[in-house]
Amino acid sequence: MKMWDGRFSKALDSRVNDFNSSIRFDCRMYREDITGSIAHATMLGRCGIIEESESELICKTLMEILADIDSGKLDFDPEAEDIHMFIESVLTERIGDTGKRLHTSRSRNDQVALDIHMYIRKEAYEIRALLLRLLDVITVKAEENYDAVMSGYTHLQRAQPVTLGHYLMAYAQMFMRDVIRIEEVSSHADVMPLGSCALAGTTYPIDRHFVAEQLGFSKVSDNSMDGVSDRDFVLDMAYALSVVMMHLSRFSEEIILWCSSEFSFVELDDAYSTGSSIMPQKKNPDIAELVRGKSGRVYGNLTALLTVMKGIPLAYNKDMQEDKEAIFDSIDNAKMCLELFADMLRTLTVKRDKLRNAASSGFINATDCADYMVKKGLPFRTAYKIVGKLVAYCIENGKTLETLTLDEYKSMSEVFEADVYDAIDLDVCVRGRSCYGGPAPESVIKQIAIARNFVSVRQPK
Ligand code: ARG
Repeated sequence: MKMWDGRFSKALDSRVNDFNSSIRFDCRMYREDITGSIAHATMLGRCGIIEESESELICKTLMEILADIDSGKLDFDPEAEDIHMFIESVLTERIGDTGKRLHTSRSRNDQVALDIHMYIRKEAYEIRALLLRLLDVITVKAEENYDAVMSGYTHLQRAQPVTLGHYLMAYAQMFMRDVIRIEEVSSHADVMPLGSCALAGTTYPIDRHFVAEQLGFSKVSDNSMDGVSDRDFVLDMAYALSVVMMHLSRFSEEIILWCSSEFSFVELDDAYSTGSSIMPQKKNPDIAELVRGKSGRVYGNLTALLTVMKGIPLAYNKDMQEDKEAIFDSIDNAKMCLELFADMLRTLTVKRDKLRNAASSGFINATDCADYMVKKGLPFRTAYKIVGKLVAYCIENGKTLETLTLDEYKSMSEVFEADVYDAIDLDVCVRGRSCYGGPAPESVIKQIAIARNFVSVRQPK
């Protein structure tokens, strides 16, 4: 028997029942659904729409239902159409006709909208905490390696000297922007839609602002049709998580390269890598690869949600039930990735000597050598050309800029003096890049301080 049984003379085809039902996934919103119903029932009592005593009985019973679900005493009925119908039917089973008064001046349309707003708000808070934790791990690693010279790359070719600390803090920048994006998701979800009812509000003297206050919302939706059909905040979450995954995926790609024998810059902890079933020597970066791979489904969910929403006329349409599995999947996967990635990063070992060796053989101080000549009075383009020739000479003769003799330098230009060796020393090159935002160790220390402050002002007091 369905709650909406009255108008129908035939039972539902059993396949339609399965097709239509959402309880197997929307059951995860039971806490939001029950809390929302308690606020609604309290408001109905206060506004004299139902008796105070009825309101009290409904709230008390809803609280018991919540406790019973929490403790595992009450299981979800897979035959129920959705979580809203399930909770209401248990309520009515327990207190009879009084339970039937709960749905006065409410529709499942504004009820589900309320539940998702609350759910997204809660998850945004948890995801923000995971991002802050990851930032913590990054700043610790950056501090340990604030002066570890390595090559920075463009086109994956050795380019100019940086430090691992600077490299890591570039990722910190991305995750700080992610925190801000997630905070925006929270503020978009912070709108209370209940009272929009099916689409056209209600004639009952309800108090929507009271409900909002009870549930900790700072705004109430301004238009009942938009109130039930807005899923922009779900899309905002799907997008914010896509960007998080894009950042994690780029970082994963670095780690996958870095722990290959060819780079050998880092070694993963045994607890965060896996072996091969056939090749005994292997130690594989599966976590990083899976994080990179899972970005695919999170982008897919964003596309799915945009597509679901694009053709829907106002107001509620059942298409919108498809929002849940997509966003739940993005949330579950992004959370898992953030958590595991942080631990993988925390436990990895950095091989500073390998970073340094790779930096020493790629002419990454060629720009510094040209800058040296500029300081001696040559125009940059002229200096650039001369250093180009020097590099070609080195390659031909198996030398580096460090191992060229002063005579070899002088044969290319008279401006070279013995101090050129100091100017192209990698530590000197990095230290010299002390402009704001540059890779010099002192600049990295400043960046770390800024990031730590960003995290600490956001920590719960
Ligand atoms: N399970 C539905 C959903 O997720 C709840 C709203 C149903 N409303 C309706 N008029 N059938 O969207």
